[in-house]
Amino acid sequence: MLGNPEKPGPASLPDRAFTRDRLGRPMRDLRISVMDRCNFRCPYCMPRETFHERYRFLKASQRLSFEEITRVARLCVGLGVRKLRLTGGEPLLRSGLAELVAELSMIEGGEDIALTTNGILLAQHAAELKGNGLHRVTVSLDTLDEAVFERMSGGYGGLHQVLEGITAALEAGLSPVKVNAVVKRGVNDHTVLSLVERFRGTPVIVRLIEYMDVGTRNSWKPEDVVPSAELLRRVRERWPLTPTAGRTQGEVAERYVFDDGAGEIGFISSVTAPFCGDCSRARLSSDGAFYTCLFASQGTDLRSPLRAGASDNDLLALLRGDWSRRVDRYSELRDAGGVVEHPLPKVEMNYIGG
Ligand code: GTP
Ligand code: 5AD
Ligand code: SF4
Ligand code: SF4
Repeated sequence: MLGNPEKPGPASLPDRAFTRDRLGRPMRDLRISVMDRCNFRCPYCMPRETFHERYRFLKASQRLSFEEITRVARLCVGLGVRKLRLTGGEPLLRSGLAELVAELSMIEGGEDIALTTNGILLAQHAAELKGNGLHRVTVSLDTLDEAVFERMSGGYGGLHQVLEGITAALEAGLSPVKVNAVVKRGVNDHTVLSLVERFRGTPVIVRLIEYMDVGTRNSWKPEDVVPSAELLRRVRERWPLTPTAGRTQGEVAERYVFDDGAGEIGFISSVTAPFCGDCSRARLSSDGAFYTCLFASQGTDLRSPLRAGASDNDLLALLRGDWSRRVDRYSELRDAGGVVEHPLPKVEMNYIGG
């Protein structure tokens, strides 16, 4: 348990009632995008053609300050959130990120602070992040093949730095360290087994992710998805696996252990086996909009009220109102072949966080 008796926590908030949405789901996780920029251009997330040199990212003044982020996080903890995840874009491009971690770690009632990063800058920050209260880190790494890596990161190199980042995270005790690999058919699916092999027998947990139709810019096609069932079969043919007992509430990965004791592997099947049923994730974009689904088109602007002097109660009313009206289950509707209405374009992943 984190916590500092000096700091106001949920107990001192005006209303502690934990909020549930229309489908009975509590708000347990808050994913905070601290930076819409990234130093990669992964074609499935920020394709170069769109995110080119003249692309208008947010100005620094448009991004929430650390103080504003901490305030929203504290209010969300008051509504039931227990896990905070810092994402981007690339969160380590936000200068002084470790200071934000220190502030978040003082929120009474938060239990877990994690970071999702592409790992390029991780080696230089891992120890300080740990020292300031970060618990664990997830590194996005799709392949160990240099050429495929370059293609999947949009023409950037840096595989070696990412691996150094993972080592530094392990040394700093940011555990469990997880590796997220998005698998795209015909691009990196032939390199999956070598990725798994590299981290078997280490404390790093590899999770293979089905490529999703997130945002509007990645030209997603169903044929590009490699279903988890197929990946599971391929991994199992080489190394026998046993499922771990049950998923914990709100967990995205199906977890397996290697029968020879070489650790754990996860499969994230957002396309073929959606997990909206117990989705407890809220999202805060870098410019302070609150979203109740990864596939949302619109969020609620919190930055304006934050900057106009709104009270905690005003902000809580906005957050609670949004969550209690929530009916989102985009992936389930898509899976069922239902019409997923999107009158407005879906929000982009670099802006809302993965
Ligand atoms: P752990 O707590 O370590 O299990 O991490 P997490 O559950 O926060 O997962 P992580 O942030 O590593 O997300 C892994 C991947 O799952 C993301 O990159 C997305 O591809 C997918 N994902 C995460 N959250 C959602 C979600 O709410 N909806 C959908 N459809 N996919 C999600
Ligand atoms: N499908 C699945 N996962 C994605 N990510 C980014 N774009 C996609 C997509 N289209 C993942 C990244 C990272 C996390 C933030 O989201 O690989 O692990
Ligand atoms: Fe950057 Fe991650 Fe998006 Fe790749 S997936 S462009 S590393 S935010
Ligand atoms: Fe949650 Fe929306 Fe993802 Fe479903 S599609 S799991 S509701 S974020």
